[in-house]
Amino acid sequence: MGDKTSCFELAEGINWVGVVDWNIRDFHGYITRRGSTYNSYLISDKKIALVDTVKHTFSKEFLKKISQITDLEKIDYIIINHVEMDHSGSLPILAKLAKNATIITSQRGKDAIIEHYGTDFGVKTVKTGDEINLGNHTLRFIEAPMLHWPDSMFTYIVEEKILLSNDAFGQHLASVSRFDDQVDEHVLMEEATTYYANILMPFGSLISRKIQEVVKMGISPKIIAPSHGVIWRLKPSKIIQAYLDWSSGKSEQKAVVVFDTMWGSTDKMARAITEGLASQGVDVKLLKLRAAVKSEVVTEILEAKAVIVGSPTLNNQMFPSLSSFLTYITGLKPKGKLWSFFGSYGWSRGAVKSMTEMAKNAGFEIFNSGLEIKFVPDQEDLKKSFEFGKQIAIKIKS
Ligand code: FEO
Repeated sequence: MGDKTSCFELAEGINWVGVVDWNIRDFHGYITRRGSTYNSYLISDKKIALVDTVKHTFSKEFLKKISQITDLEKIDYIIINHVEMDHSGSLPILAKLAKNATIITSQRGKDAIIEHYGTDFGVKTVKTGDEINLGNHTLRFIEAPMLHWPDSMFTYIVEEKILLSNDAFGQHLASVSRFDDQVDEHVLMEEATTYYANILMPFGSLISRKIQEVVKMGISPKIIAPSHGVIWRLKPSKIIQAYLDWSSGKSEQKAVVVFDTMWGSTDKMARAITEGLASQGVDVKLLKLRAAVKSEVVTEILEAKAVIVGSPTLNNQMFPSLSSFLTYITGLKPKGKLWSFFGSYGWSRGAVKSMTEMAKNAGFEIFNSGLEIKFVPDQEDLKKSFEFGKQIAIKIKS
């Protein structure tokens, strides 16, 4: 079998044949400071099925790994749960070599395969409830649109109660270990939280509905094996509960103050606002955008009740870093937050107005009319900033 990163067995005849991407640090803009994995699963029975592939740059390693267990020509089915290229990138080369395999995917998966690779490779489509029997293992398919793309689906191994959930329940976490009980629990939950916040947050209502639908189908997975990170076998219920909480918009008595500054005035306001929030016992995080990683700011926001955003005015507008941040966060559609804006200006205003408009257009709940001060805050301005934070804290606690 080789080392621990090789072909792990999840259950008899079910092997992980994925790859570890130790050095990826930017996953379409999301900073993955602990790398990632692309998980693929091989089910060897009277018939042989492979679920998902890996990013194309790892094709060689992937094919070698499968070949340690079976001849590629003996694969009967290649299940494509999701066509995004981190999972389907090795499909073209695999389809050529696994000549006897039928490719199974959702109807939207078939469309996406054609759009990505210019051919459908002779795909057979499935829908929720359809099953394939491999001998002692039955694969049941569950369409899961928008978890993470319209084509996404889960594959459930009925007898073993293993849910191959693709992007859902994943984490960008490279490790020699493959299971939740083999890694630091704090690190695992931190990465699962960051992953949810940056990848799945916009689809919260679909996620809670999908979990309810899966429960109604009588599915209670003993193992959840996603396509990124480690496999949940010790506490699959823990990540399911976390998804239910996050998707419902459940928040803590917590505020995030996120800002940028030109000559330090907005910084001074941010600190005074933070003190005002903290004076009421609210947990508060103060993050300067130029010193923070955007994807980690989003993680802090996920469970916060209020987000207070500060920018100096530059050319009648918000600072460019705030524009980038607000574009990102409005796209992620965080639920149930109170938003408020502040900043300093020189001879003309503009930042607070433009940030507030952007948030309003995104449907965010704006708590107050914002706070602006001219040039450098004096003691009176700092008192106002403290009070501004205090009033938000009182609202959070009400
Ligand atoms: Fe891991 Fe949506 O791809």
